[in-house]
Amino acid sequence: MAAFPNLSDLLVNHQDDVERILFTEDEIRAGLERLAARVAACYGQEPFTVVSVLKGSCVFVADLIRRIPGPLELAFAATSSYAAGTEPGRLELLLCPDEREIEGRRLLLVDDILDTGRTLAALRGELLARGAAEVRSCVFLDKPSRRSLLFEPDFRCFEVGDVFVVGYGLDFRGRYRNLPFVAALKAHAFAQQA
Ligand code: IMP
Ligand code: MG
Repeated sequence: MAAFPNLSDLLVNHQDDVERILFTEDEIRAGLERLAARVAACYGQEPFTVVSVLKGSCVFVADLIRRIPGPLELAFAATSSYAAGTEPGRLELLLCPDEREIEGRRLLLVDDILDTGRTLAALRGELLARGAAEVRSCVFLDKPSRRSLLFEPDFRCFEVGDVFVVGYGLDFRGRYRNLPFVAALKAHAFAQQA
């Protein structure tokens, strides 16, 4: 019977493509504690809804909400901003929370990375147009040097320079989301999957 590949084999394969690690698991854990404390202090005992932007924020949002003790709900949104590679494509709304989850609610949009700002600016506008009482934003990574419009996150875990990163939910062509750290890829990894 063919053996199912174990996790360490998958990580070894992925790690061959890693140029350097930008944030280790320990650094991410410490960053999350600081971030969650700020978010929890902002909302206190007020109810709010975390709107997780799929797919990239799935790892981050799962770790973040478990560190916030207040009464929060969870909803999901999805856009396609990166068609396949590393450059932005046309922005499409693929999934939006139900109107009962939006109207009159305080929402916290959570995304993996704030790059040009197009995704979160568009989603914020859409949620306000659909009746949200308030829309704040929280990103795992912020890449301010890439911003193409005026948008500042209310909360961010870390700032990064202009480098394409993967891991901890972030992908290149659908891969590397399962890396437990944040890394830059070697040039051959981009070329192999082109
Ligand atoms: P924005 O609309 O340009 O701010 O792009 C946000 C989306 O682009 C994120 O949700 C990511 O899916 C993707 N993205 C931007 N930069 C990176 C990166 O360095 N690695 C992986 N995905 C990225
Ligand atoms: Mg992505």
